[in-house]
Amino acid sequence: MRQLVFLPLLLAASTVTSQIVRTLGPFQEVFAWKQITFNIQGSMPLQDRFGELDVQEESTSEGVQKRHTSDIVFHNDNEGERDWNTQNSRLRTTTTIRPSRNTGWNRPSSTSTTTPRPSSALFTDESRQFFVQYNNLPMGVERVGRRVFITLPRRRYGIPATLNYLHLDQDSNTRSPSLRPYPNFSASSYLTSVYRTRADRCGRLWMVDTGMLEIPNNRQQVQPPAIVVYDLNTDRPILRYNFKTSDIPSAITPTGLASITVDIPDNDCNDAYAYVPDLATYGLIVFSLKSNDSWRLSHNFFSFNPLVGNLNLAGQRFQWNDGIFSITLTNPTSAGCRDAFFHAMIGTDEFSVSTCTLRNRTASEDSNFWSLFSIIGNRGANSQSTMHGYHAGSNVIFFADIARSAVSCWNTGNPLSSSTVGILASDTRRLGYPSGKCR
Ligand SMILES: *[C@@H]1O[C@H](CO)[C@@H](O)[C@H](O)[C@H]1NC(C)=O
Ligand SMILES: *[C@@H]1O[C@H](CO)[C@@H](O)[C@H](O)[C@H]1NC(C)=O
Ligand SMILES: *[C@@H]1O[C@H](CO)[C@@H](O)[C@H](O)[C@H]1NC(C)=O
Repeated sequence: MRQLVFLPLLLAASTVTSQIVRTLGPFQEVFAWKQITFNIQGSMPLQDRFGELDVQEESTSEGVQKRHTSDIVFHNDNEGERDWNTQNSRLRTTTTIRPSRNTGWNRPSSTSTTTPRPSSALFTDESRQFFVQYNNLPMGVERVGRRVFITLPRRRYGIPATLNYLHLDQDSNTRSPSLRPYPNFSASSYLTSVYRTRADRCGRLWMVDTGMLEIPNNRQQVQPPAIVVYDLNTDRPILRYNFKTSDIPSAITPTGLASITVDIPDNDCNDAYAYVPDLATYGLIVFSLKSNDSWRLSHNFFSFNPLVGNLNLAGQRFQWNDGIFSITLTNPTSAGCRDAFFHAMIGTDEFSVSTCTLRNRTASEDSNFWSLFSIIGNRGANSQSTMHGYHAGSNVIFFADIARSAVSCWNTGNPLSSSTVGILASDTRRLGYPSGKCR
């Protein structure tokens, strides 16, 4: 199954500086966390565990080794033996849990009853816990102005807020700043679970709220899956568009809505499109803001390649089946259309389709619809990638490669093959499971 996650917590960007400069290939570390902490109206549950003390360790290579071996957070969702027993538990609400300035955190005084679980020294009842540090895995990252948005999809209990941010002016005096719920703690409960965000040039932040608590063996659809858009000037939601039932063919489809790509063809902010890949049930959902409508497309290229599904990441071996994962748009061509490049995560081929095809609501009715999609090339062995992003100035696409723990790149002016893909940085310890990309 696809729901295995582990990642060392590393963000890299070349445009921000921190006091101590660590690099990885051409990348400069900006923030790093061993475990996530939160800053909720000044109250911080737990201390930063990856702070400046660790910096001294780095003076010896032995110290680095030690630190990073404990750096991996590993979740295997096929843990059938875990009895979560949480039928009656609900997503926490702001009325039952409050941060306390003096004593840290009050346990939720939940009024719901939970079935008593078999007592076990190993598992505490996480369903009742407001914050389970180990379960807080960042998945998406995006810098907009002086803020860095970081998402924590709710695939476990104990995640205080799914969408959070850092402020580069207020939070960059430490290597591991605490995350701030967006827009603030009380309003953050508007969102159930978000994988990744995308900002547009109209000052808006787009995302899919899957609406689902993805607890292993106990998935709960808390609210309908929806596209949510925030106005970044007011930090208020300006759109919640529930997908149509025809967009969501299966109960597990929401678990596959892990990214979103925004297209504004004519620089008219009211005429925007969002393209949402569905990696779980292999489709692509198109949303038109102007017509307040959505439609779902199917194509064989959205599927995974079964020949490259065996992965060995940092010693964890498993088989995966994620389909279409990431969509990135080129500069417009003369006709005002862009190429939408896309790939399955379990795959090494790159495909494309014109955004004019995606935006045409009736294009899929054409008997030749399938032929409007192209294969661009193969990126080579071990190039399975989560997100990728097109850099408009250079026409280069950057890839977050999971199978080789790398960031790679390809100049779209060249034919795509393993020999035209360059590896910018690769490190199984510090770049394990690269999951997001910043513009
Ligand atoms: C939290 O954010 C919401 C939405 O922006 C706003 O309406 C509310 O007043 C804020 N609450 C606090 C305590 O700042
Ligand atoms: C958009 O469509 C939905 C139904 O899919 C409807 O509930 C909603 O009111 C519409 N929004 C606008 C702004 O028309
Ligand atoms: C949309 O696609 C249909 C079917 O291929 C085609 O007949 C129509 O001309 C297209 N519309 C536009 C605006 O390109």
